[in-house]
Amino acid sequence: MVITAKIIQEIEKEAKKYFKGASGCHDWSHVERVRNLALHIGKIEKANLKLLETAVLLHDIGRRDEMKTQGAFCHAMQSGKMARKILPKYGFNQKNIDEIVHCIEAHRYRNEIVPSTIEAKVLYDADKLDCSGAIGIGRAFLFSGNAGSNVMYNGKEKELAKTNKNYTYHKDDSAYLEYEVKLKHIKDKVLTKTGKKFAISRHKFMENFFKTFWQEVEGKK
Ligand SMILES: [Fe+2]
Ligand SMILES: [Fe+2]
Repeated sequence: MVITAKIIQEIEKEAKKYFKGASGCHDWSHVERVRNLALHIGKIEKANLKLLETAVLLHDIGRRDEMKTQGAFCHAMQSGKMARKILPKYGFNQKNIDEIVHCIEAHRYRNEIVPSTIEAKVLYDADKLDCSGAIGIGRAFLFSGNAGSNVMYNGKEKELAKTNKNYTYHKDDSAYLEYEVKLKHIKDKVLTKTGKKFAISRHKFMENFFKTFWQEVEGKK
């Protein structure tokens, strides 16, 4: 089938409904940034852009339910399930539905599903990259505030990172801990060549940011 601009518009309208009252790190602005980046990377990587854009719009529609239960289930699988119900209404054929749902289910890649198409790889990269760079730092501070930690830093981050425990939703989950545990490894996780270029540049920015951050904490700057 041909995925028209009109269909994309309708899907966007429908997807947006699931973001009412969403937290700042995973609100509609996240989807818009992932869309911008995915289309940029997807064009270079020669992905099917309409298919990719549809998957981007729906990739986190199950996120609100996951946040409510503090991570009790995987939102990628939930979003995939919801997409299977939405897409037939807009005339998507089975092949397209399977391709789009694969992108959605694989975007997290902490579950068992490995991104196996170029569209799935690009969505995965764009989504990961939104946790990186200047935006990534902004989101990390916002997330630790929202998730229950009220410290900007605690000075124990390097130690805590070594324990390999999950500190998400924990009182010690500062932005710098997020960086030590997750954000600094994003550059090693992206899958496409173009994604890698973006990831390295965003990584350098974060590295410099936290270097300056600690110099300021210690009054050296
Ligand atoms: Fe997600
Ligand atoms: Fe996402």
